[in-house]
Amino acid sequence: MSVNTDTTHSSTGAAALAAFRRRLPGIIYGGDYNPEQWDRRTWAEDIELMRQARVRLVSVGVFSWAALEPRDGEYDFDWLDEIMDLLGDADIAVNLATPNAATPPWLAETHPETLLVDRAGTRVGIGSRGHFCPSAPIYLDRSRRMARMLAERYGTHPALAMWHIGNEYHAHCFCDLCDAAFRRWLQARYASLDSLNDAWGTLFWSQRYSEWDQVHLPKPVRGNINPARELDFSRFVSDVQSDLIRAERRLLQDITPGVPTTTNLLQNYPLGDYRAWADAWDVVAFDSYPDPSDPQWPAAAALQYDLMRSLGAGAPWMLMEQAASGVAQWRVNVAKSPGQMRLGSLQAVAHAADAVMFFQWRASKAGHEKFHSAMLPHGGTETRTWREVRALGEELERLDPIAGATVPADVALIWDWENWWAVEGIAHPRNDMDYRALLRAFQAPLWERNIALDVVGWNDDLSGYRAIIAPNQYLLSEDRRAALDAFVRGGGHVLIGSFSGIVNENDQVNLPGYAPGLRPLIGAHILDMAARPDHERISVRMPGGEVLGDEGDFVHRWQDELVVADAEILLEYADGDFAGEPAVIAHRVGDGRVVYFGTDPSSSLRERLLEDFVRAADARAPHPAPPGVEVVERRSATESFLFFLNHSPHPRDIRLSDGGIEMLSARDVAPGETLMLDSQGAAVVRRALSRTERQLA
Ligand code: GLA
Ligand code: ZN
Repeated sequence: MSVNTDTTHSSTGAAALAAFRRRLPGIIYGGDYNPEQWDRRTWAEDIELMRQARVRLVSVGVFSWAALEPRDGEYDFDWLDEIMDLLGDADIAVNLATPNAATPPWLAETHPETLLVDRAGTRVGIGSRGHFCPSAPIYLDRSRRMARMLAERYGTHPALAMWHIGNEYHAHCFCDLCDAAFRRWLQARYASLDSLNDAWGTLFWSQRYSEWDQVHLPKPVRGNINPARELDFSRFVSDVQSDLIRAERRLLQDITPGVPTTTNLLQNYPLGDYRAWADAWDVVAFDSYPDPSDPQWPAAAALQYDLMRSLGAGAPWMLMEQAASGVAQWRVNVAKSPGQMRLGSLQAVAHAADAVMFFQWRASKAGHEKFHSAMLPHGGTETRTWREVRALGEELERLDPIAGATVPADVALIWDWENWWAVEGIAHPRNDMDYRALLRAFQAPLWERNIALDVVGWNDDLSGYRAIIAPNQYLLSEDRRAALDAFVRGGGHVLIGSFSGIVNENDQVNLPGYAPGLRPLIGAHILDMAARPDHERISVRMPGGEVLGDEGDFVHRWQDELVVADAEILLEYADGDFAGEPAVIAHRVGDGRVVYFGTDPSSSLRERLLEDFVRAADARAPHPAPPGVEVVERRSATESFLFFLNHSPHPRDIRLSDGGIEMLSARDVAPGETLMLDSQGAAVVRRALSRTERQLA
């Protein structure tokens, strides 16, 4: 047994990651590689073509459990030995996976309890993946035995560079083992049944528990389930998954302390508080699948990337998977248009990805994802996709000097999983709350203005930001309130959306209602709240001024009844039940300022209010640009790397403020020079920071 503490594990991890970066400096290129689906002749071709594409890292073995262990305790490592050698000889590094995401048929057959039970009570069958129960001792034993065997066998193999723990963790099970695990988790959280009863408010609808044995996972009930119970279940599900990753990481680190670990994260993932998981890996890795047919894809992707960077406190992260063109799992898997994959890849690098990788290297000929695009399509090297993949490999090498640089941001958007779970809970004045859509609604206008954004939680270090945006922070526990308070009193600017500060960590109303914790900050008291019918549009005006004339500027859906103490009224209602009452207010607190939306502004009005808000906070774009051109700056201690990404369908000109080198064309550029970008075009201008800029950093 290891006696290592977690501190040892995290410093071990940091050293391992540093060694990995020395071994694979620059921007890493590669993808998932599934050689077990192919014959030896194909392997030889794979390796030749990987070299042509400048692939430097491949993720191997993600779903190889059945190929590695065809029967309980019977192993076949020959094929993996061989491919590890071939890759190593070709100087292609391996990100070796622990194959725990898809258990083999023999495990399900001999130990059906390793299969998960869904909420409706059905134990799922095999034939897909991710079907394991995270509490089944046999699953834990066999998957860890496999991880240990891999670490012992390949720990010193020259090709091994990194561990890829599992795949897109999303375990979620309702079996009896998980039921017992939930009870243990609750016992640890609440110690006594009385405090659980109090936290869950069980006197409502006669739910008071008299024995721990009566406490269960939230299986289907008639009607609505207790929201505090559901909230705790979300916390539990999140903890279970991160514990699995941590346990495997510790096991791997004990055997191979010099090899860093990661796991690939999902976009918009509701079932895990990634911020609470962030000590479970050495580097953040992300699977990015924006919908190529969504005109808003670049903004949507940027939000995810900014979250990934922020999970690592600004550190570069790895784009572990993306599609070379279409995926296979949606209704219509639209193909990427020429240049779209390149632009999306450069966008990830702009937002601090130091690796650009794909699912997968070669398109499969069988199975669930045989029509999912790949770096090497079914049509082979004749295809446009292949040409683009090859060109990108070459191009990314020119960006190698950027590796390690981060993205300075003055503004932080709060993405708070506990709040997500709670705000989308049941029996609210409105039950159509969509937290992801809200985050997008507050992020997109900033993205359009090229205001750099970190995407943080309340426990992150907020002191360096000028401004924080918290869309509908419904769950305002005492620690969150204190973080908010300290930020404002430290001179920060805060924007808070309506339906904020309403409940504590147990989803119980913060009394006296509403949002007593926000009163000193917003300079007003929320006396009551009113949901409004969907079709209603309410006009607003500046106090005593004209009704906002612009067609798109109105508010809807929600109205607080605000009793202003010493806040400034920015907008008041011009008609409806609350005509003349305050709608949007601002309040100075020391050097800080809080803007509060007591209503839901239309999108154009929200944009304008956000624009005013960031202007007041003095947050700026790194460089002016015409509409549709995304500008992101990465900075190292000594240099600036300014990305210009033209997402618009038109060519765009940019007059450069500073000179430097345009890295993609390897050309000197002068201050005042005009850069011309085609639609989907990109440029990256590198320059040395001035002494003042270095001092400011
Ligand atoms: C996920 C998985 C991959 C693959 C891709 C398809 O990200 O990790 O195994 O299924 O989706 O887009
Ligand atoms: Zn289970």
